[in-house]
Amino acid sequence: MAERLTLPQTRDRQTIYTALLPQLEALVAGESDPVANMANVAAGLREAFGFFWVGFYRVVGRELVLGPFQGPLACTRIGLGRGVCGRAWSERQTIVVPNVETFPGHIACSSESKSEIVVPFFDRTGEQVAGVLDIDSDRPDDFSETDRHELERLMRRIESKLQESNE
Ligand code: SME
Repeated sequence: MAERLTLPQTRDRQTIYTALLPQLEALVAGESDPVANMANVAAGLREAFGFFWVGFYRVVGRELVLGPFQGPLACTRIGLGRGVCGRAWSERQTIVVPNVETFPGHIACSSESKSEIVVPFFDRTGEQVAGVLDIDSDRPDDFSETDRHELERLMRRIESKLQESNE
């Protein structure tokens, strides 16, 4: 797998996801290290869409702990149910926040972040949240059902490659 993305010259998100996802899947398929895989997935999503912040938080004990990301510095630990990330963890589902200022308990890592999507990924049993993918945009209301659907699809396909393998 070449370590370079081939992306269509368009702003249509669906078209970009359709081109991008197979490339990200191929990239992680050949690598067993979860940190390397989270790093490249974050970089790929940021390169493809130009999001303000893209990164991972991993469940470590009773907290989410910052993992590989692209963008400005971020808070390192988030409790269960706290902020958008902690809520996606406790509810075990994607949360889309069109306007971060109206989300109760939103954790503002940067005042430039205006909208956000957080997508959990699961352990091998499919029961426990293993971590979350967090994407922040500097534009309000930047995430649609297309983003939710495609990012959930990506997580389902690669979540086993975002965790330590015990094989
Ligand atoms: N806004 C997030 C915190 C993480 S930063 O956006 C990178 C939240 O409320 O969970």
